[in-house]
Amino acid sequence: MTERLIARITGIGSYLPERVLTNSDLEKMVETSDEWIVSRTGMRERRVAAIDEFTSDMGAKAASQALLNAELTSNDIEMIIVATMSPDYISPSTANIIQAKIQANHAAAMDIQAACSGFLYGLSLAKAYVESGMYQNVLVIASEKMTAFVDYQDRSSCVLFGDGAAAVVVSNKKTGLAIETICLGADGQLADLVIIPAGGSRHPASTETVEKKLHYFKMSGKEVFKHAVRRMTAAARECLTKANLTESDISWLIPHQANERIISAIAKQFSMTEKQVYKKTLPKYGNTSASSVAIALDELLQEEEIQKGEHLLLVAFGGGLTWGATILTKIVEV
Ligand code: ACO
Repeated sequence: MTERLIARITGIGSYLPERVLTNSDLEKMVETSDEWIVSRTGMRERRVAAIDEFTSDMGAKAASQALLNAELTSNDIEMIIVATMSPDYISPSTANIIQAKIQANHAAAMDIQAACSGFLYGLSLAKAYVESGMYQNVLVIASEKMTAFVDYQDRSSCVLFGDGAAAVVVSNKKTGLAIETICLGADGQLADLVIIPAGGSRHPASTETVEKKLHYFKMSGKEVFKHAVRRMTAAARECLTKANLTESDISWLIPHQANERIISAIAKQFSMTEKQVYKKTLPKYGNTSASSVAIALDELLQEEEIQKGEHLLLVAFGGGLTWGATILTKIVEV
Protein backbone atom coordinates (compact mmCIF):
# COMPACT_ATOMS: atom_id res chain seq x y z
CA MET A 1 0.00 0.00 0.00
CA THR A 2 1.37 3.46 -0.83
CA GLU A 3 2.01 5.79 2.13
CA ARG A 4 -0.40 8.75 2.44
CA LEU A 5 1.39 12.03 1.73
CA ILE A 6 1.13 14.65 4.47
CA ALA A 7 1.91 18.31 3.80
CA ARG A 8 4.08 19.94 6.45
CA ILE A 9 5.50 23.39 7.01
CA THR A 10 9.22 22.65 7.05
CA GLY A 11 10.61 26.17 6.96
CA ILE A 12 9.42 29.68 7.78
CA GLY A 13 10.75 33.23 7.58
CA SER A 14 9.52 36.79 7.68
CA TYR A 15 10.67 40.28 6.78
CA LEU A 16 9.60 43.65 8.14
CA PRO A 17 10.82 46.92 6.64
CA GLU A 18 12.94 49.18 8.84
CA ARG A 19 10.92 52.38 8.94
CA VAL A 20 8.60 52.65 11.94
CA LEU A 21 5.42 54.75 11.84
CA THR A 22 4.23 55.43 15.39
CA ASN A 23 0.87 56.61 16.68
CA SER A 24 2.47 59.94 17.51
CA ASP A 25 3.65 60.24 13.85
CA LEU A 26 0.03 59.66 12.79
CA GLU A 27 -1.15 62.35 15.22
CA LYS A 28 0.81 64.80 13.05
CA MET A 29 -0.81 63.55 9.83
CA VAL A 30 -4.54 63.19 10.68
CA GLU A 31 -6.89 64.14 13.49
CA THR A 32 -6.28 61.18 15.78
CA SER A 33 -4.63 60.35 19.08
CA ASP A 34 -2.45 57.64 20.52
CA GLU A 35 -5.17 57.08 23.13
CA TRP A 36 -7.87 56.49 20.41
CA ILE A 37 -5.68 54.16 18.36
CA VAL A 38 -4.49 52.08 21.33
CA SER A 39 -7.92 51.80 22.95
CA ARG A 40 -9.83 51.05 19.69
CA THR A 41 -7.23 48.78 18.01
CA GLY A 42 -4.31 47.90 20.35
CA MET A 43 -1.84 49.19 17.73
CA ARG A 44 1.17 51.35 18.63
CA GLU A 45 3.48 51.12 15.62
CA ARG A 46 3.52 49.75 12.12
CA ARG A 47 6.32 49.30 9.52
CA VAL A 48 6.49 51.18 6.23
CA ALA A 49 8.42 49.93 3.19
CA ALA A 50 10.88 52.33 1.56
CA ILE A 51 9.77 54.15 -1.59
CA ASP A 52 11.93 51.81 -3.69
CA GLU A 53 11.07 48.67 -1.72
CA PHE A 54 8.20 46.68 -3.19
CA THR A 55 5.93 43.78 -2.30
CA SER A 56 8.18 41.43 -4.33
CA ASP A 57 11.34 42.63 -2.49
CA MET A 58 9.83 41.92 0.91
CA GLY A 59 8.38 38.59 -0.27
CA ALA A 60 11.75 37.51 -1.72
CA LYS A 61 13.52 38.28 1.59
CA ALA A 62 10.95 36.29 3.59
CA ALA A 63 11.17 33.43 1.05
CA SER A 64 14.98 33.26 1.31
CA GLN A 65 14.67 33.00 5.11
CA ALA A 66 12.08 30.22 4.80
CA LEU A 67 14.32 28.29 2.37
CA LEU A 68 17.30 28.57 4.75
CA ASN A 69 15.11 27.42 7.62
CA ALA A 70 13.89 24.43 5.56
CA GLU A 71 17.46 23.63 4.49
CA LEU A 72 16.46 23.78 0.83
CA THR A 73 17.63 25.90 -2.08
CA SER A 74 15.45 27.79 -4.51
CA ASN A 75 16.18 25.08 -7.10
CA ASP A 76 14.14 22.62 -5.00
CA ILE A 77 10.96 24.70 -5.27
CA GLU A 78 8.37 23.59 -7.85
CA MET A 79 5.61 26.11 -7.21
CA ILE A 80 5.51 29.64 -5.75
CA ILE A 81 2.17 30.94 -4.48
CA VAL A 82 2.04 34.60 -3.45
CA ALA A 83 -0.89 35.90 -1.43
CA THR A 84 -1.19 39.66 -1.75
CA MET A 85 -3.70 42.44 -2.26
CA SER A 86 -0.94 44.96 -2.93
CA PRO A 87 0.94 43.36 -5.85
CA ASP A 88 3.81 45.09 -7.66
CA TYR A 89 1.64 45.10 -10.81
CA ILE A 90 -1.79 43.90 -11.89
CA SER A 91 0.21 41.80 -14.35
CA PRO A 92 2.69 40.09 -14.25
CA SER A 93 2.17 38.34 -10.95
CA THR A 94 4.30 39.24 -7.94
CA ALA A 95 5.08 35.51 -7.70
CA ASN A 96 6.82 35.71 -11.09
CA ILE A 97 8.93 38.68 -9.95
CA ILE A 98 9.90 36.81 -6.78
CA GLN A 99 10.69 33.68 -8.81
CA ALA A 100 13.29 35.70 -10.73
CA LYS A 101 14.63 37.45 -7.62
CA ILE A 102 15.28 34.19 -5.72
CA GLN A 103 16.24 32.32 -8.91
CA ALA A 104 13.74 29.52 -8.41
CA ASN A 105 14.25 28.53 -12.01
CA HIS A 106 12.27 25.28 -11.85
CA ALA A 107 9.23 26.76 -10.15
CA ALA A 108 5.85 27.68 -11.59
CA ALA A 109 4.49 30.87 -10.06
CA MET A 110 1.13 32.54 -9.40
CA ASP A 111 -0.58 35.11 -7.20
CA ILE A 112 -3.77 34.60 -5.27
CA GLN A 113 -6.03 37.33 -3.90
CA ALA A 114 -8.00 36.68 -0.74
CA ALA A 115 -7.07 39.89 1.14
CA CYS A 116 -6.14 39.22 4.78
CA SER A 117 -7.09 35.53 4.49
CA GLY A 118 -4.63 35.04 1.61
CA PHE A 119 -1.98 33.14 3.55
CA LEU A 120 -4.46 30.44 4.62
CA TYR A 121 -5.88 30.24 1.09
CA GLY A 122 -2.31 29.82 -0.21
CA LEU A 123 -1.55 27.18 2.39
CA SER A 124 -4.61 25.19 1.29
CA LEU A 125 -3.32 25.10 -2.30
CA ALA A 126 0.15 24.03 -1.15
CA LYS A 127 -1.39 21.27 0.97
CA ALA A 128 -3.41 20.03 -2.01
CA TYR A 129 -0.38 20.09 -4.35
CA VAL A 130 1.85 18.22 -1.90
CA GLU A 131 -0.73 15.68 -0.75
CA SER A 132 -1.79 14.88 -4.32
CA GLY A 133 1.84 14.15 -5.13
CA MET A 134 1.94 16.78 -7.86
CA TYR A 135 4.70 18.81 -6.16
CA GLN A 136 7.10 18.01 -3.35
CA ASN A 137 8.18 21.51 -2.32
CA VAL A 138 5.93 24.56 -2.53
CA LEU A 139 6.69 28.10 -1.33
CA VAL A 140 3.76 30.06 0.08
CA ILE A 141 4.58 33.74 0.45
CA ALA A 142 2.39 36.48 1.87
CA SER A 143 3.64 39.97 1.17
CA GLU A 144 1.93 43.33 1.45
CA LYS A 145 2.86 46.94 0.80
CA MET A 146 -0.47 48.16 2.16
CA THR A 147 0.92 51.67 2.70
CA ALA A 148 0.92 52.14 -1.11
CA PHE A 149 -2.89 51.89 -1.05
CA VAL A 150 -3.68 53.63 2.22
CA ASP A 151 -5.11 57.15 2.13
CA TYR A 152 -3.16 59.10 4.73
CA GLN A 153 -5.99 61.61 4.92
CA ASP A 154 -8.52 58.94 5.96
CA ARG A 155 -8.07 58.50 9.70
CA SER A 156 -10.49 55.57 9.85
CA SER A 157 -8.14 53.32 7.85
CA CYS A 158 -4.65 54.85 7.75
CA VAL A 159 -3.91 54.03 11.39
CA LEU A 160 -4.57 50.33 10.85
CA PHE A 161 -2.19 49.06 8.20
CA GLY A 162 1.50 48.27 7.86
CA ASP A 163 3.87 46.53 5.45
CA GLY A 164 5.61 43.18 5.78
CA ALA A 165 6.03 39.67 4.46
CA ALA A 166 6.31 36.07 5.59
CA ALA A 167 6.86 32.78 3.80
CA VAL A 168 6.70 29.06 4.45
CA VAL A 169 8.02 26.02 2.64
CA VAL A 170 5.42 23.23 2.44
CA SER A 171 6.88 19.79 1.76
CA ASN A 172 6.27 16.11 2.20
CA LYS A 173 8.93 15.66 4.89
CA LYS A 174 8.98 13.67 8.12
CA THR A 175 9.41 16.66 10.43
CA GLY A 176 7.60 19.97 10.68
CA LEU A 177 4.16 21.41 11.30
CA ALA A 178 1.60 19.11 9.70
CA ILE A 179 -1.23 21.03 8.05
CA GLU A 180 -4.05 18.97 9.56
CA THR A 181 -7.18 20.72 8.35
CA ILE A 182 -7.97 23.96 6.58
CA CYS A 183 -11.48 25.45 6.52
CA LEU A 184 -12.06 28.38 4.18
CA GLY A 185 -15.09 30.54 3.40
CA ALA A 186 -16.22 33.56 1.42
CA ASP A 187 -19.20 35.89 1.06
CA GLY A 188 -19.09 37.90 -2.16
CA GLN A 189 -22.41 39.60 -1.29
CA LEU A 190 -20.35 41.76 1.08
CA ALA A 191 -17.56 42.56 -1.37
CA ASP A 192 -18.11 46.32 -1.03
CA LEU A 193 -17.18 46.36 2.67
CA VAL A 194 -13.44 46.20 1.93
CA ILE A 195 -12.50 47.53 -1.49
CA ILE A 196 -9.99 49.36 -3.68
CA PRO A 197 -12.56 50.64 -6.20
CA ALA A 198 -10.37 51.73 -9.15
CA GLY A 199 -7.41 50.40 -11.09
CA GLY A 200 -9.17 47.26 -12.34
CA SER A 201 -11.14 46.83 -15.56
CA ARG A 202 -14.34 48.25 -14.02
CA HIS A 203 -12.74 51.63 -13.30
CA PRO A 204 -9.43 51.88 -15.16
CA ALA A 205 -7.16 54.71 -14.06
CA SER A 206 -8.41 58.11 -15.24
CA THR A 207 -8.17 61.69 -14.04
CA GLU A 208 -11.58 61.20 -12.45
CA THR A 209 -10.60 58.05 -10.50
CA VAL A 210 -7.49 59.79 -9.21
CA GLU A 211 -9.40 62.95 -8.23
CA LYS A 212 -12.02 60.87 -6.41
CA LYS A 213 -9.27 58.89 -4.62
CA LEU A 214 -10.69 55.63 -5.90
CA HIS A 215 -7.28 53.94 -5.99
CA TYR A 216 -7.15 53.93 -2.21
CA PHE A 217 -8.24 51.21 0.18
CA LYS A 218 -11.71 51.74 1.70
CA MET A 219 -13.29 49.81 4.54
CA SER A 220 -16.59 49.91 6.45
CA GLY A 221 -14.84 49.18 9.75
CA LYS A 222 -17.83 48.68 12.05
CA GLU A 223 -19.58 46.21 9.72
CA VAL A 224 -16.35 44.33 9.04
CA PHE A 225 -15.68 44.06 12.78
CA LYS A 226 -18.91 42.10 13.40
CA HIS A 227 -18.32 39.70 10.53
CA ALA A 228 -14.68 39.21 11.53
CA VAL A 229 -15.59 37.94 15.00
CA ARG A 230 -18.45 35.74 13.78
CA ARG A 231 -16.65 34.21 10.81
CA MET A 232 -13.30 33.54 12.49
CA THR A 233 -15.02 31.90 15.46
CA ALA A 234 -17.12 29.69 13.18
CA ALA A 235 -14.13 28.74 11.00
CA ALA A 236 -12.11 27.79 14.10
CA ARG A 237 -14.97 25.61 15.40
CA GLU A 238 -15.42 23.92 12.02
CA CYS A 239 -11.70 23.19 11.86
CA LEU A 240 -11.65 21.69 15.37
CA THR A 241 -14.60 19.44 14.51
CA LYS A 242 -13.01 18.30 11.23
CA ALA A 243 -9.72 17.54 12.99
CA ASN A 244 -11.60 15.68 15.74
CA LEU A 245 -10.10 17.98 18.38
CA THR A 246 -11.51 20.24 21.08
CA GLU A 247 -10.34 23.68 22.16
CA SER A 248 -8.54 22.14 25.15
CA ASP A 249 -6.25 20.31 22.68
CA ILE A 250 -4.97 23.64 21.29
CA SER A 251 -1.73 25.10 22.69
CA TRP A 252 -1.81 28.40 20.80
CA LEU A 253 -4.44 30.46 19.02
CA ILE A 254 -2.84 32.69 16.38
CA PRO A 255 -5.48 35.13 15.13
CA HIS A 256 -5.32 37.70 12.33
CA GLN A 257 -3.69 40.74 13.95
CA ALA A 258 -6.34 43.27 12.85
CA ASN A 259 -7.69 44.58 16.14
CA GLU A 260 -7.10 43.71 19.80
CA ARG A 261 -10.86 43.90 20.44
CA ILE A 262 -11.60 41.38 17.65
CA ILE A 263 -8.95 39.05 19.07
CA SER A 264 -10.41 39.32 22.61
CA ALA A 265 -13.94 38.67 21.32
CA ILE A 266 -12.76 35.49 19.55
CA ALA A 267 -10.63 34.33 22.49
CA LYS A 268 -13.68 34.68 24.76
CA GLN A 269 -15.54 32.12 22.64
CA PHE A 270 -12.84 29.55 23.42
CA SER A 271 -11.69 28.62 26.89
CA MET A 272 -8.08 29.70 26.43
CA THR A 273 -5.85 31.59 28.79
CA GLU A 274 -4.62 35.05 27.80
CA LYS A 275 -1.13 33.55 27.39
CA GLN A 276 -2.33 31.04 24.78
CA VAL A 277 -3.54 33.78 22.42
CA TYR A 278 -0.62 35.11 20.39
CA LYS A 279 -1.06 38.81 19.67
CA LYS A 280 2.42 40.25 20.12
CA THR A 281 2.80 41.38 16.52
CA LEU A 282 -0.37 43.56 16.56
CA PRO A 283 1.07 46.49 18.58
CA LYS A 284 4.38 46.46 16.62
CA TYR A 285 3.23 45.93 13.04
CA GLY A 286 -0.52 46.70 12.88
CA ASN A 287 -2.57 44.87 10.25
CA THR A 288 -0.23 43.52 7.55
CA SER A 289 -3.15 41.91 5.68
CA ALA A 290 -2.23 38.53 4.12
CA SER A 291 1.12 38.52 5.95
CA SER A 292 -0.42 39.00 9.38
CA VAL A 293 -0.95 35.41 10.64
CA ALA A 294 2.21 34.18 8.90
CA ILE A 295 4.41 36.83 10.56
CA ALA A 296 2.76 36.03 13.90
CA LEU A 297 3.43 32.30 13.38
CA ASP A 298 7.09 32.96 12.58
CA GLU A 299 7.60 35.13 15.67
CA LEU A 300 5.79 32.63 17.90
CA LEU A 301 8.02 29.81 16.63
CA GLN A 302 11.12 31.92 17.34
CA GLU A 303 9.96 32.58 20.91
CA GLU A 304 8.48 29.24 21.93
CA GLU A 305 9.71 25.69 21.59
CA ILE A 306 6.64 23.85 20.26
CA GLN A 307 6.66 20.26 21.49
CA LYS A 308 5.86 17.13 19.49
CA GLY A 309 2.09 16.66 19.22
CA GLU A 310 1.16 20.26 20.13
CA HIS A 311 -1.58 21.86 18.02
CA LEU A 312 -1.68 25.48 16.81
CA LEU A 313 -4.91 27.08 15.57
CA LEU A 314 -4.61 29.94 13.05
CA VAL A 315 -7.61 32.08 12.06
CA ALA A 316 -7.82 34.84 9.46
CA PHE A 317 -10.44 37.17 8.00
CA GLY A 318 -10.38 39.76 5.25
CA GLY A 319 -11.91 41.57 2.34
CA GLY A 320 -13.99 39.64 -0.15
CA LEU A 321 -15.26 38.82 2.40
CA THR A 322 -12.99 35.84 3.02
CA TRP A 323 -12.06 33.86 6.09
CA GLY A 324 -10.29 30.70 7.13
CA ALA A 325 -8.79 28.60 9.90
CA THR A 326 -6.17 25.88 10.04
CA ILE A 327 -4.76 23.51 12.62
CA LEU A 328 -1.02 22.79 12.54
CA THR A 329 0.46 19.89 14.52
CA LYS A 330 4.12 19.54 15.42
CA ILE A 331 5.41 16.25 14.04
CA VAL A 332 8.85 14.81 14.73
CA GLU A 333 9.48 11.42 13.15
CA VAL A 334 12.64 9.40 13.50
N1 ACO B 1 -8.85 58.63 15.39
C1 ACO B 1 -9.82 59.22 16.09
N2 ACO B 1 -11.13 59.01 15.84
C2 ACO B 1 -11.44 58.14 14.86
C3 ACO B 1 -10.46 57.49 14.09
C4 ACO B 1 -9.11 57.76 14.38
N3 ACO B 1 -8.10 57.19 13.74
N4 ACO B 1 -11.09 56.70 13.20
C5 ACO B 1 -12.40 56.83 13.38
N5 ACO B 1 -12.62 57.71 14.39
C6 ACO B 1 -13.89 58.17 14.91
C7 ACO B 1 -15.02 58.01 13.92
O1 ACO B 1 -15.08 59.14 13.07
C8 ACO B 1 -16.22 57.91 14.82
O2 ACO B 1 -16.58 59.21 15.25
P1 ACO B 1 -18.14 59.61 15.35
O3 ACO B 1 -18.71 58.69 16.38
O4 ACO B 1 -18.08 61.04 15.76
O5 ACO B 1 -18.70 59.36 13.98
C9 ACO B 1 -15.68 57.18 16.04
O6 ACO B 1 -14.23 57.33 16.02
C10 ACO B 1 -16.00 55.70 16.06
O7 ACO B 1 -15.69 55.19 14.78
P2 ACO B 1 -15.97 53.68 14.42
O8 ACO B 1 -15.63 53.42 12.99
O9 ACO B 1 -17.34 53.33 14.89
O10 ACO B 1 -14.89 53.00 15.36
P3 ACO B 1 -14.76 51.50 15.75
O11 ACO B 1 -14.82 51.38 17.20
O12 ACO B 1 -15.63 50.59 14.94
O13 ACO B 1 -13.24 51.19 15.33
C11 ACO B 1 -12.02 50.15 13.54
C12 ACO B 1 -12.87 51.33 13.98
C13 ACO B 1 -10.77 50.13 14.37
C14 ACO B 1 -11.70 50.27 12.08
C15 ACO B 1 -12.82 48.83 13.79
O14 ACO B 1 -14.11 48.97 13.29
C16 ACO B 1 -12.18 47.62 13.17
O15 ACO B 1 -11.14 47.15 13.61
N6 ACO B 1 -12.82 47.01 12.17
C17 ACO B 1 -12.39 45.72 11.59
C18 ACO B 1 -11.12 45.81 10.81
C19 ACO B 1 -10.75 44.45 10.24
O16 ACO B 1 -10.99 43.41 10.81
N7 ACO B 1 -10.18 44.40 9.08
C20 ACO B 1 -9.86 43.11 8.48
C21 ACO B 1 -10.12 43.14 7.06
S1 ACO B 1 -9.04 44.25 6.30
C22 ACO B 1 -8.40 43.50 4.90
O17 ACO B 1 -8.90 42.52 4.43
C23 ACO B 1 -7.22 44.10 4.27
